[in-house]
Amino acid sequence: MADLMLLGLFDNVEIVADVVDDVRALGVDDRQVEVLSNVPYPAKFFGRKAARLWFLPFAVGGALLGALTAFFISKITPQLYPVYVGGQALTPVPPAAIMYFEFVSLFTMLGSFLGFIVQNRFPVMSPRIYDERITDGYIGVTVRASLDVAEKIVEVFEKHGSHVVKREDAANFPSGNRRTFLLWGVAGVAGLVMAAAPLLLTYDVIRIPWIDKMAHTVSVGYQEGPRRAAPAAAIPLQGPVLINGQPASEPLPATENSIRRGEMLYATNCAICHGYGAEKEGATVGNAYFQEAPALETVVAELSDSEIFLTITNGKNRMPSLAENLTPGETWDIVNYLRTLSADATSNADAS
Ligand code: HEC
Repeated sequence: MADLMLLGLFDNVEIVADVVDDVRALGVDDRQVEVLSNVPYPAKFFGRKAARLWFLPFAVGGALLGALTAFFISKITPQLYPVYVGGQALTPVPPAAIMYFEFVSLFTMLGSFLGFIVQNRFPVMSPRIYDERITDGYIGVTVRASLDVAEKIVEVFEKHGSHVVKREDAANFPSGNRRTFLLWGVAGVAGLVMAAAPLLLTYDVIRIPWIDKMAHTVSVGYQEGPRRAAPAAAIPLQGPVLINGQPASEPLPATENSIRRGEMLYATNCAICHGYGAEKEGATVGNAYFQEAPALETVVAELSDSEIFLTITNGKNRMPSLAENLTPGETWDIVNYLRTLSADATSNADAS
């Protein structure tokens, strides 16, 4: 005999408790009864058993899984692939403790989250009998019952002043258990596959040709193969800066780039004492000791390129050597930049 699905609407919590009692008295199994409300009333309001809480088992399960993962990574992996580092144990305690903390926290959170989803029986996979008035504050009682009992239940509903009684064929409301089970099964399998996929690469089940061994890469040794001559005007980066007290390199051509580099290097290395222009603007070392640093645009006109190079490299009287800060190439860049200053100075002098 086909079952019926019944829905009654009530506007009062106590009435619902009586309805539930009376329905149970008719011999209806508690699992066939459901109370729907837009407010989360505790189940005992209606004289029903509280729903099982899933948070704790899921959280604890997650924590255990986290501890297991931490154990695997901190203890088993080092045993499988031992790397000895400076006399330390294979599983040093402080990092292992951090792993336990991290994994236990993470998996506890994930477990609680999953418990929350399970608790709410998400997702709902089957149609439900419903009435919009439940959203507005009415409390609904649904009962699945066989035809003959159904009539008595409707009487109970009406006796307690139900506002609406809906009757529908229970075949329209199949239990969603199988579909929910299927959904979670598919999700679980997909998760496992996703977790296992990287292992296929790790254990060379799937091989992707990739240059991961330096021994297999093509290399040209220092003395092998064709060697190109250094371009003209190249500055040696190695070798002495000075030979016999004279620059070991030739001045660089005063290209636009060289002058720009020189300007930046001047700002970093020289301006602190020499400043800019005849007023030495920007010179921040202002005490009497370094007041002696001359304004460069006035002095460099008298000096040869080599003399400037030597002053920067060796220092002079109270000017310190800057050889450690600058390569020969950079030093020539600065010389080129200083030349532009004195050119300005001369043209100014000419103009006046
Ligand atoms: C710590 C401060 C200081 C710094 C930094 C400094 N100088 Fe000097 N410089 C001096 C002083 C002081 C003198 C004067 C030396 C003397 O003749 O007694 C001087 C003198 C000079 C002279 C004139 C040398 C001569 O023969 O008259 C030149 C050229 C010069 N510096 C260039 C530079 C350049 C280029 C830089 C940056 C790469 C630089 N200086 C960085 C303090 C400094």
